[in-house]
Amino acid sequence: MKPRKRHVLLLWMLVCSGMTEAIEPISTSIAVGMAAALTGFLASYQNILYYFHECCRPEWISFNRTALNADLDSKLFGQHIASRIILKAVSGFMSNDNPKKPLVLSLHGWTGTGKNFVSQLIADSIYKEGMDSSFVHVFTSELHFPHSSQLDTYKTQLQQWIKGNVTNCAHSMFIFDEMDKMHPGLIDSIKPYLDYYDKLDGVSYRKAIFIFLSNAGAESIIQTALDFWKTGQQREEIELKDLETALSLAVFNNKKSGLWHTSLIDKNLVDFFVPFLPLEYKHVVQCAMAEMKARGVEPDQNVADQVARDLVYFPKAERVFAVKGCKTIESKLDYYT
Ligand SMILES: *[C@@H]1O[C@H](CO)[C@@H](O)[C@H](O)[C@H]1NC(C)=O
Ligand SMILES: *[C@@H]1O[C@H](CO)[C@@H](O)[C@H](O)[C@H]1NC(C)=O
Repeated sequence: MKPRKRHVLLLWMLVCSGMTEAIEPISTSIAVGMAAALTGFLASYQNILYYFHECCRPEWISFNRTALNADLDSKLFGQHIASRIILKAVSGFMSNDNPKKPLVLSLHGWTGTGKNFVSQLIADSIYKEGMDSSFVHVFTSELHFPHSSQLDTYKTQLQQWIKGNVTNCAHSMFIFDEMDKMHPGLIDSIKPYLDYYDKLDGVSYRKAIFIFLSNAGAESIIQTALDFWKTGQQREEIELKDLETALSLAVFNNKKSGLWHTSLIDKNLVDFFVPFLPLEYKHVVQCAMAEMKARGVEPDQNVADQVARDLVYFPKAERVFAVKGCKTIESKLDYYT
């Protein structure tokens, strides 16, 4: 590494460790001089150099409520309940300097309804680097924990990862995708981190965010949405309480997903259950329009309609909801434009 580059990195480290406040009155040239003096020291600690790119400091991590609100309004479609809960939950948590426990969100809904997308919007509103932030961690059962025979190894590994990452940065975010496929034993192993402990082994997890994504309860959410549709009620009239009972019953009674939910619910470790409604034709059109805009092309209503018409809808008789939601919009657009 060139000496000059090392100086830059050292300055980065000073920024990260909060020493800039102390150094500010001193001229930059002196700071660089100090950097030079410490270069040897630094060189022997190359392995921690990667911290210098992004640091666990307000310059990199600070919640922007306006941005989250605007994103939820303009980029997420057909999810009035989820939008409201997410904004309230994340704003409340991030504005609390001394939360009593980490924020735990459980996102439920059919494929393509926006669960992953919302996680991304949350990350964007907190971390300057969004999902690319080194403080945001995504775990997928199939990718990270594929073999149930290695459960014990996975448990240890996951605990170490969470502990290590939260030690590095209290404001870490952990997203667990396809939670229904995760082994219940694995979920059990992270339960202590979600709880009201001041500290565990000297580490406080209270500023971390955990987001669980799953299809659990999707059928009951769909049924409720369909009932509203059949009786001619506005979708926007659906309230959380209309879904809650059905959702918790479905979740409790589902043998596959029941275990993890039961243990998390019993201990009140999940702060918010967030239901995602199945998407209708008009929402798919909105997704397509937004995607064109994001690609920098003039949104074309005809193309959007064509994309939406091309999708498969269910139930068979009524054809109200898109089977894959907005999930395949991107590739469909490639085809039509
Ligand atoms: C928050 O987000 C809004 C909208 O994206 C933006 O205009 C504003 O500058 C951001 N505020 C900060 C402090 O970054
Ligand atoms: C943080 O989590 C990642 C997985 O997302 C893992 O690879 C890494 O080793 C963890 N870091 C620490 C310090 O434990």
